[in-house]
Amino acid sequence: MKKDLLGIADLTPAEITLVLDTAEAMREIGQRPIKKVPTLRGKTVVNLFYEASTRTRTSFEIAEKRLSADTLNIAVAASSVLKGETLVDTALNIEAMAPDMIVMRHGSSGACHLLAQVCKSRIINAGDGMHEHPTQALLDAFTIREHKQRIEGLKVAIVGDLLHSRVLRSNVLLLTALGADVWVSGPSTLIPAGIDRYGVRVTTSVDEAVDGADVIMMLRIQQERLRGAFLPSLREYFELFGMTTARVARARPDVIIMHPGPMNRGVEIASEVADGPYSVILEQVANGVAVRMAVLYLLAGGQDGD
Ligand code: CP
Repeated sequence: MKKDLLGIADLTPAEITLVLDTAEAMREIGQRPIKKVPTLRGKTVVNLFYEASTRTRTSFEIAEKRLSADTLNIAVAASSVLKGETLVDTALNIEAMAPDMIVMRHGSSGACHLLAQVCKSRIINAGDGMHEHPTQALLDAFTIREHKQRIEGLKVAIVGDLLHSRVLRSNVLLLTALGADVWVSGPSTLIPAGIDRYGVRVTTSVDEAVDGADVIMMLRIQQERLRGAFLPSLREYFELFGMTTARVARARPDVIIMHPGPMNRGVEIASEVADGPYSVILEQVANGVAVRMAVLYLLAGGQDGD
C-alpha cells in the first residue's frame, strides 16, 4: 500500500513479515531452470547509484531481470552529475522518461526521502548515508528466520562501527520491532549517542555482547567515513573488538555469523570466522535477490503480470 520503501522505520511488523513471506516464494523462482517470471513485464526500473556497491546493485539488477522488468543502470561517474547537475534535477530528468521505480544509493542521509517528495516514481532506498539500508535489514532477517525459524526472543549481538552504519540503524529498527533481544557493541567512540533509546542493550565489551548469542552480526569499520581519531590502530581494534574463534566460542553452539559486506578481514573479523562453519555471509548475499524481488513485486502492487 506504500508508494516507496525508504526505511524500516516506515514499516509495521506485519509489513516486514509480508516481505519476508513473499521472499520465500520468490526464492523458489531462483531455483528453477528458467529463472524468470513475467511479473514486472512492461515496468521500467532505474538503478541510480551515487556510491560504490557490489552486492546491492547486482542483486537488485538480478531481481529486476528475474521479474522481467526493463532495467537501466545509471553510471553516475559517466553522467551529467559530474557537470554539476543536482540530485533533484537528475531525478526529474530521469523521471521525464517515465520509469516506474528508481532504486537509489546516495552518500547523504535523507537523499531518498527528498527524491520521494519530488518524484512520482516509486523510490527504493538502497542505502542513504548513515541513515538506513532497509533491504539489507530485510535480507538479514530473512537469513536469521531461515536458520532459527523465528526472530522473537533471539539474542542478536551487533558489533563494530555502530556510529557510521546504516545497516545498524535498519537492523535495530527491524529486529526490535520483531521482538529480538538486541545487543550492540563497539568502542565508545563509535557508539551513537542515544542508541539505547531504540530498546537495545549497549556495551563496550564484545565478550558480554556475544555471550550466549544466537546471532552475531559484524559491521565493517568504515575507514572512508572515519574522519578523526576514532581508533588508536586497526591492529588494536582487532585485538579488542575483532570476531575471533575464541569469541565465537562464547556464543550458543548453533550461532550464526553475519556480515553485510564488504568485509575487512583481520580488522573486524578473522578469516577463519568469515569462512568458518558458522558463517552465513554468502547466504545473506544469495537471499538478497529473493528479498529484493519481494520488495519490487510488492511495491508494484503485488500482482502477477500476464
Ligand atoms: N551490503 C552492501 O550494501 O554491500 P554493497 O555496498 O556491496 O552493496
